Amino acid sequence: MVKKKEENTKTKEIEIEEIPGIGPKTAEKLKASGYTTVEAIAVAATRTLGDIAEISEGTSNKIIAEARRVVSIDNFVSADQILEKRKTVGHITSGSKNLDDLIGGGFETQAVMEVFGEFGSGKSQLAHQLAVTVQLPKEKGGLEADSIFIDSENTFRPERIIQIAENYGLDPKQALVNIHYARAYNSDHQILLAEKSEDILKKGGAKLLILDSLTATFRSEYVGRGTLAERQQKLGRHLRKLHQLADMYDICIFVTNQVSATPDAFFGDPTRPIGGHILGHSATMRIYLRKSKQGRRIARLVDSPSLPEGEAIFLVTGKGVTDP
Ligand SMILES: Nc1ncnc2c1ncn2[C@@H]1O[C@H](COP(=O)(O)OP(=O)(O)OP(=O)(O)O)[C@@H](O)[C@H]1O
Ligand SMILES: [Mg+2]
Repeated sequence: MVKKKEENTKTKEIEIEEIPGIGPKTAEKLKASGYTTVEAIAVAATRTLGDIAEISEGTSNKIIAEARRVVSIDNFVSADQILEKRKTVGHITSGSKNLDDLIGGGFETQAVMEVFGEFGSGKSQLAHQLAVTVQLPKEKGGLEADSIFIDSENTFRPERIIQIAENYGLDPKQALVNIHYARAYNSDHQILLAEKSEDILKKGGAKLLILDSLTATFRSEYVGRGTLAERQQKLGRHLRKLHQLADMYDICIFVTNQVSATPDAFFGDPTRPIGGHILGHSATMRIYLRKSKQGRRIARLVDSPSLPEGEAIFLVTGKGVTDP
């Protein structure tokens, strides 16, 4: 029997090998698939764990149960506890009060926030903006924290960070140091980087994980209808991991998504976000961006668990995102 985490004072972190049922071989397989912590195992699905570690359903059930006991993951809590947890949600300003108001006070922690729209609609600009504003003190709309930037399109520009940081009176060099950057070369690499980001999150200084874009690598690798199911499954697993990180480390996950022209759409906007239903039902909030006149951008809140649909207008300028 392993001691519960809080009782275990000597070793702050319990290694997964310490969970009964996890031998060295199983541990190796689990770690190779990103299950590096007891927490990750505690919230894993039986089948997934079984498939990865090539163990029976019974064994993986036992392992999960033991991991849950160690990290005290109860399946049910009372709703007032959820309310308490909601009170700890942090907000990161977008730089535009209009946009912040639309989404309930800024980009939230403990959530996966998806921004989708056509090219040039301002998705990457918002990503750069948040990588800076998250560093601001609370009274200025930040969380005094670092960010992690996973860039799959090679569109991250440190020059933009400097411009935005200067606008907020931050030391531009320090602003760059506070951004942990990685370029993702394909979907597997992207998934691995998201898992690896846990190493940074464990240290506690980061409150924002950006994936710009979430879907581009998947889109280019899985072409044709025959590969759709596989793509959606993989994207689904990736998203579950992201939700888990958002919850466990109280961070905001900001993901961008392109829209694809769907010629068969007769009604409404002829563009639809990539990822279809998997993403549609997975992001905590979805914001649709479109270009308007004079550098204006229109943000539309498409899907939120507790806010009404609505629109906000903001500007992308040399100094970053602002109100018109
Ligand atoms: N320094 C700047 N000053 C003013 N506007 C800028 C500046 N840099 C970028 N922009 C605006 O932002 C636009 C690009 O937006 P962004 O890169 O966020 O698009 P995106 O939504 O990420 O598109 P994609 O789908 O191609 O990645 C430019 O077309 C321009 O209008
Ligand atoms: Mg972009």
